[in-house]
Amino acid sequence: MRLLLYTSTNLIAEDQRALDALMVQCRTNNAVDGITGLLWTDNVRFAQALEGGEEAIASLLDRLRTDDRHADMHVIWDEVSTERHFGAWSMVMPAEDVLAQLYEQRLIQFLQRLPPALGDAFAGIVRRGSAHAGRSG
Ligand SMILES: Cc1cc2nc3c(=O)[nH]c(=O)nc-3n(C[C@H](O)[C@H](O)[C@H](O)COP(=O)(O)O)c2cc1C
Repeated sequence: MRLLLYTSTNLIAEDQRALDALMVQCRTNNAVDGITGLLWTDNVRFAQALEGGEEAIASLLDRLRTDDRHADMHVIWDEVSTERHFGAWSMVMPAEDVLAQLYEQRLIQFLQRLPPALGDAFAGIVRRGSAHAGRSG
């Protein structure tokens, strides 16, 4: 199992249809690939947590690096782990789902163990992203 956390610049900000289409693509692919994850956006940046088999995550990372819906990817955490930590969703935006919010809290606690220079940017997107989704939903 590999756990990957990254941030990137959102190039489809404010385009709800493009974001909806992205979520459908994520859920469909990830269900097949055995990948689970959480995705946040504050409409400026994305923050994504991904967990899955090492090969599946490596293949997804290659696709992500050439996806023009975002740019400026920064991988802030990449570890091989023995178990899934952040839930069973093929992909979810936590503000949509009460249980996923528990995993969001777990992720925020995890981020506090990282060097602030890495964890703070991710945590900021998580906090602002939830607030944004809460307002619109
Ligand atoms: C912010 C962001 C998150 C993404 N997350 C995933 C993901 O979790 N799983 C996935 O398969 N593709 C994800 N994608 C899409 C991939 O970059 C790529 O377009 C897709 O996997 C291509 O596969 P397909 O053409 O077979 O659907 C994401 C793209 C962006 C911009």
